[in-house]
Amino acid sequence: MEKIVSLCKRRGFIFPSSEIYGGLSSAWDYGPLGAELKRNVKDAWWKAVVHNREDMVGLDSSILMHPRIWEASGHTENFSDVLVDCKKCKKRFREDHVDGKCPSCGACDFTEGRAFNLMYKTRHGAVNDESGDIYMRPETAQGIFVNFKSVIDSTSRKLPFGIAQIGKSFRNEITPGNFTFRMREFEQMEIEYFVRPQDAEGFYKQWIDQRFQWYLDLGVKKEKLQLRVHPDDELAHYAKGCSDIEYEFPFGWSELEGIANRTDFDLKQHSEFSGKDLRFHDQVANEKFFPYVIEPSGGVDRATLAFLVDAYHEEEVEGKTRVVLKLNKNLVPRQVAVLPLLKKNGEIVSLAKRIKNDLQKTFTAVYDDSAAIGKLYRRQDEVGTFFCVTVDVDSLSDNQVTVRFRDTMKQERIPLENIEKFLINQLN
Ligand code: GAP
Repeated sequence: MEKIVSLCKRRGFIFPSSEIYGGLSSAWDYGPLGAELKRNVKDAWWKAVVHNREDMVGLDSSILMHPRIWEASGHTENFSDVLVDCKKCKKRFREDHVDGKCPSCGACDFTEGRAFNLMYKTRHGAVNDESGDIYMRPETAQGIFVNFKSVIDSTSRKLPFGIAQIGKSFRNEITPGNFTFRMREFEQMEIEYFVRPQDAEGFYKQWIDQRFQWYLDLGVKKEKLQLRVHPDDELAHYAKGCSDIEYEFPFGWSELEGIANRTDFDLKQHSEFSGKDLRFHDQVANEKFFPYVIEPSGGVDRATLAFLVDAYHEEEVEGKTRVVLKLNKNLVPRQVAVLPLLKKNGEIVSLAKRIKNDLQKTFTAVYDDSAAIGKLYRRQDEVGTFFCVTVDVDSLSDNQVTVRFRDTMKQERIPLENIEKFLINQLN
């Protein structure tokens, strides 16, 4: 992990939040390359689960919602960890993380456990008393349930169909850590897929397979992914079944995404608490019922971290260590870097800049002349750039450039007039 954290900071993927003020624990900022990578992760997800399907629509609901929503969902009552204080060193721990002995000072004297709700409270509007207290959402899922009726009414959907959403969630985690794996502010990509109750088991299995395949399609090594089925005593209060897709991070196997059969719990609860009928009306059979819900719920930050860890690769080349980020072509922050072989030659520089301007219409492209060519190649390898296009003296007369491939370092001379087509073919 140290190597990944250091690369992320050095090359502009991820920075500690508020660093010039000493940082804010467990909060991280995505730098220029990290912002691109994270966008690509979200785009790949949206394409796979919304644009490429007939049975899905998107949603972008607000972070601040009516406080009754969290009563209905069970978060006000149940979304808490039990904490204990060590009476000797006064440090606070999750009860399930101490084994009779204080992890900090070794004493065995704790206070009684007390529930600590993980939701962030904030004040809504210009009121100065508790009547304005609301929460920042701890999951995006509830925004989907409370919009269920509006989506049905505005899109005339039939079952089965799903609603997808990407957005920030907030949890005052007791033990954040492992870089961006567990944060207090993070982004989720969630789907609520509404089905007839009798079809729930089949769609639950289907979604597990499809979500597992998504990580494989984006290049994650098969041996680094596993499925963990939750035993009954681990299931959330609303779930009939749940399976986690786990990745083997350097700190161990950990959850990337959970796929749950949430039954009809949420729609029923919101019907009861809001007084609005959220049953689905089947016009053909003329019956009303609460659909069951299959929920694939993943973290953008966790997926991004897994892609980074999985792509990190070191190899020996001519006695030196080459670091390559072998990110999938659909995830790379930059597809092409255009490099002049001689930055003092004005003709080469202007041709290289012109090529970059042409290529950026189709690809994510950069121009870089800040070092000698060998160093430029290494830098682009380290951030996963798929191709380097090098312009040299010969390019001025023969109108050809050298394309260098990230993974193999092989080089090929390509006529300028074919370069766009050539790169498109390689990326397909
Ligand atoms: N709606 C269901 C739900 O929120 P969850 O397992 O609590 O389920 C879903 O969260 C996903 O959100 C997790 O699999 C993880 O990828 C991500 N996630 C949850 N808490 C997180 C945190 N503190 N930091 C980063 N990602 C988190």
